[in-house]
Amino acid sequence: MKYNIWVRAATLLWSLSITAAQDAPAPYMQVPSQRQLEWQQQELYAFLHFGPNTFTGEEWGRSQSRPDIFNPTDLDTDQWAKVLAEAGMKGMILTAKHHDGTCLWNTSTTAYKTGNGSWAKKREQDGFDADVVRMAAGSAKKYGINFGVYLSPWDIHRDPAMPKPGLKGTIYDEPQIFGDSSPGDYNALYVQQLTELVTMKLADGTPIELFEVWLDGASGSDTVQTFNWTGFRDVIRQHQPNAVMWGHQGPDARWVGNEDGFTLPTNWHTISRTQDDVHYSGEELEVGVRDGQYWTPAESDARIRDGWFYHANEPSKSGAALMDMYLKTVGRSVNLLLDVPPDTRGLIADMDAANLKEFARLRNATLNRNLVTPDLKTSASSVRDGDIVSYGPAKVIDGSNDTYWTMDDGELTGWMEVDLGSSFCVDGFIVQEHIAFGQRIGRYEIGAMVEGSTYRAVVSNGTSMGYKRIDLLEKGVETSRIRLRITQANAVPLIQSLQVLGSRNCTGPL
Ligand SMILES: *[C@@H]1O[C@H](CO)[C@@H](O)[C@H](O)[C@H]1NC(C)=O
Ligand SMILES: *[C@@H]1O[C@H](CO)[C@@H](O)[C@H](O)[C@H]1NC(C)=O
Ligand SMILES: *[C@@H]1O[C@H](CO)[C@@H](O)[C@H](O)[C@H]1NC(C)=O
Ligand SMILES: *[C@@H]1O[C@H](CO)[C@@H](O)[C@H](O)[C@H]1NC(C)=O
Ligand SMILES: *[C@@H]1O[C@H](CO)[C@@H](O)[C@H](O)[C@H]1NC(C)=O
Ligand SMILES: *[C@@H]1O[C@H](CO)[C@@H](O)[C@H](O)[C@H]1NC(C)=O
Ligand SMILES: *[C@@H]1O[C@H](CO)[C@@H](O)[C@H](O)[C@H]1NC(C)=O
Repeated sequence: MKYNIWVRAATLLWSLSITAAQDAPAPYMQVPSQRQLEWQQQELYAFLHFGPNTFTGEEWGRSQSRPDIFNPTDLDTDQWAKVLAEAGMKGMILTAKHHDGTCLWNTSTTAYKTGNGSWAKKREQDGFDADVVRMAAGSAKKYGINFGVYLSPWDIHRDPAMPKPGLKGTIYDEPQIFGDSSPGDYNALYVQQLTELVTMKLADGTPIELFEVWLDGASGSDTVQTFNWTGFRDVIRQHQPNAVMWGHQGPDARWVGNEDGFTLPTNWHTISRTQDDVHYSGEELEVGVRDGQYWTPAESDARIRDGWFYHANEPSKSGAALMDMYLKTVGRSVNLLLDVPPDTRGLIADMDAANLKEFARLRNATLNRNLVTPDLKTSASSVRDGDIVSYGPAKVIDGSNDTYWTMDDGELTGWMEVDLGSSFCVDGFIVQEHIAFGQRIGRYEIGAMVEGSTYRAVVSNGTSMGYKRIDLLEKGVETSRIRLRITQANAVPLIQSLQVLGSRNCTGPL
């Protein structure tokens, strides 16, 4: 009897210690929502600026043209989606309404829409859909990429500070309700437009799913309009719970502080202000706030040409220039939203399509060379409760987004190592922190074993790791073992993935 009790007590103790060993680390401060996590994994997608400005050569427009100005000769939204999908882009965001106020979908909120122009009338007569937003959404679905919309909060068409003599006396001369001191409620109009977009259906009746809604912060007039961000957010959440709402500083994703396709090497996913607070400066947005109050990761909106809208005389960036952008955005944990504007035919320009293709080839040729396979030998300075099965260093190379190597709570520095099995020419690394449980790491280094026994730091200045870091070396190094060291963290670090890029030897072609 006594013996039995003793055995049971021992079993209990043993199972308690197993349970303790299996406890995952607690989330650290702010963590991403599921929608933010899925959005972060999209990494690279396109911005399509299309509308009257495409035909007038303007960027912001002045809301002077009638809808007839919108007259693409060969509009084919399938071509957009095909070109983007083939270039490995995960989605497209279309300007449903830019600053000039022309709506590209068949809204009931204004007469100022492409659907009222002769292009749309002719298309409808011929039995084709003429709702550009719906057409683009259908094409995105057909080619398996995400779809999102841009709806400009600033609206020149409704802004009394922006004179519109060109529309005087036409049905397009509509009430000037933009501004806190103007008569009428612009927020109500905006909510109605937003509601139409988030509840839109494809021609066959299936709902259109949005992955992102882009609410621009730009304004070119002094008219003060207090936007009802909470109201806008509620409409989006109610109808599109998976859509990320982008604004200058959130709520779901923030501006990266510039429009040039780069960010500073240190980038935190958190900030401590909302859309209702004073705006951060560019550099504050680039860096973010470590241990900030809100999970508001950055997105870099950049352009393949000089302008946002298509202008024939502007050069298109080369694949190499786009690759450089990619490394300075996606390679620094920031999503890249690349503007690829349809031309006056209503097609992605041939030169842009060719450059996107070369960009895709370069990404693949540079990054798709992981030398690490799940069967390789790994070791670590320590493992959480010694539980190698759950938290060992092999979790870093198992290809799963849900597993990670970690140590005991309170252990803020440490290393893990992977043995490549034989000698390779290593020239780059891709590392990922398990951000589902928050961002913790402030400094890291990567060493390569050279001359048999010593580690040489080949990446010595890693800072905020976050979702994904790409570190490329200027010159390959011959090595068979790689060591990742976490040298600063604010809570026990969680390493989700390490990829080691390289080729067989340093004399062969890269
Ligand atoms: C893991 O993350 C990658 C992006 O980094 C994504 O493409 C993939 O779908 C994710 N896998 C799972 C199972 O979620
Ligand atoms: C434009 O659309 C509005 C309703 O959205 C309609 O009342 C108006 O007659 C249309 N105008 C033209 C010129 O088609
Ligand atoms: C817009 O909607 C109206 C009313 O449902 C319809 O008559 C018209 O054909 C539509 N126009 C376009 C461009 O879809
Ligand atoms: C903002 O919109 C919400 C929801 O539509 C509404 O309840 C609230 O009164 C609005 N706030 C202001 C200041 O207009
Ligand atoms: C990607 O690169 C690998 C080699 O790194 C190559 O085998 C493959 O064909 C490339 N794929 C594409 C689509 O370029
Ligand atoms: C580390 O140094 C390299 C080479 O100077 C540079 O390209 C990289 O951006 C630096 N990284 C950080 C995180 O500062
Ligand atoms: C290095 O790689 C190239 C091309 O893959 C091959 O031709 C050459 O024989 C290799 N050299 C050595 C020393 O392994």
